[in-house]
Amino acid sequence: MAWTRNRPVGVTWRDAGRSCPGYTLFAPVRGTHANLLDAEGRIVWRWHHPEGIQHAKLAANGNLLIQTQPPEDAEGTERIGASPGALIELDWNSTLVWEYVSPFTLGSRTARSDGILGGGVGSEGDEMATIPRLAGAEPVERIVETLREHGGVIVEDLLDAELLARFNAELDPHLAAARPDRTFLSPAIDWFFGKHTRHLTGVAAKSRVFASEVLCHPIYLALADAVLGPSCASYQLNVAQVLDRGPGAEPQLLHRDEAVWVHLPRPHPEIELASVIALVDFDADAGATRVVPGSHRWPLDRQPTDDEIAVAEMRAGSAVVYLGSTIHGGGPNSSADTWRRGMHMSFTVGWLRTEENHSLSTPPEVARTLPRRAQELLGYAVHDALAAGGGYLGAVDLRDPVELLASKEL
Ligand SMILES: [Fe+2]
Repeated sequence: MAWTRNRPVGVTWRDAGRSCPGYTLFAPVRGTHANLLDAEGRIVWRWHHPEGIQHAKLAANGNLLIQTQPPEDAEGTERIGASPGALIELDWNSTLVWEYVSPFTLGSRTARSDGILGGGVGSEGDEMATIPRLAGAEPVERIVETLREHGGVIVEDLLDAELLARFNAELDPHLAAARPDRTFLSPAIDWFFGKHTRHLTGVAAKSRVFASEVLCHPIYLALADAVLGPSCASYQLNVAQVLDRGPGAEPQLLHRDEAVWVHLPRPHPEIELASVIALVDFDADAGATRVVPGSHRWPLDRQPTDDEIAVAEMRAGSAVVYLGSTIHGGGPNSSADTWRRGMHMSFTVGWLRTEENHSLSTPPEVARTLPRRAQELLGYAVHDALAAGGGYLGAVDLRDPVELLASKEL
């Protein structure tokens, strides 16, 4: 077989009818990473080790076993045939769990202060990333500027204590009835959210406080005006879900929220503004959201190292607001008994299909009782791009549904 310089890369052929569903683990022999690929060849997760990964295998506990390359300065028989420098177990975030070092290469490795050999990811002395934080009382322009620069910002005290207390009181009975082990529309979604999360969806129909005060919060709307306004005639609610992550919750796969619209060609303007509002104090032990500042400007195949991942520790009522293009994920909850209750709310441009179907989860008989602004954000208003040379989206009987709600014709 010819080995051409300009050979194609990635998935070059796939017969969907004959290929198995699932993921493929691939480690380039000469690379420093191992990739988990979906059926389309997209990298859904990446492990990294600075000494190179020759071969990799997923262990039953979810960790990755890797065989490293011999070090550059190795000599003699240890370089014969792909002799490894070490056999290593990495956790999901590429942190060293266990290793066996080849006696041939021991002399070229360095000792860490904790007695573990090698220069694993996240070693002592690393400077950890941080998320900029601003008070909710700051001018919105400053919050927007920070958001654009870093891809994420913590807005402190977005919800005041009184509003937060009323909101939590409304959520309590719903969450008490939620089952962490429930299943969703596919095993992939089950795996993404795990079995330790009480999940409340369609919150606009379940919480009046959310629909009338959180959804229409003036700071959040001002941020959406600035970030999404230039790319649409109007924006809309995409997701409104409470995620109450309990003890034992695994770290969520780091991801970009906008990846759900995979068919949208790149580059494109920002299409999504997302947030996690802390409904209780968020700390690292209880699984505060992780955000990778600056990742909204990265190429899609770049994965963060440990020191590039910031933890959104914040007091209840604050929110981490981030762009749809920013890498983030829920942190592991290693606490003994703390549930990390967070409100995930995201907006998207009015011409994209939303992740949650709000007109079904908040049907007209419920929407009719909500403020008009809430109805609009729930998708009951048409997206009117006529002035920009476009047209209408979402009409009913060629009329605006939000007007039909007002006239009780809907
Ligand atoms: Fe997310």
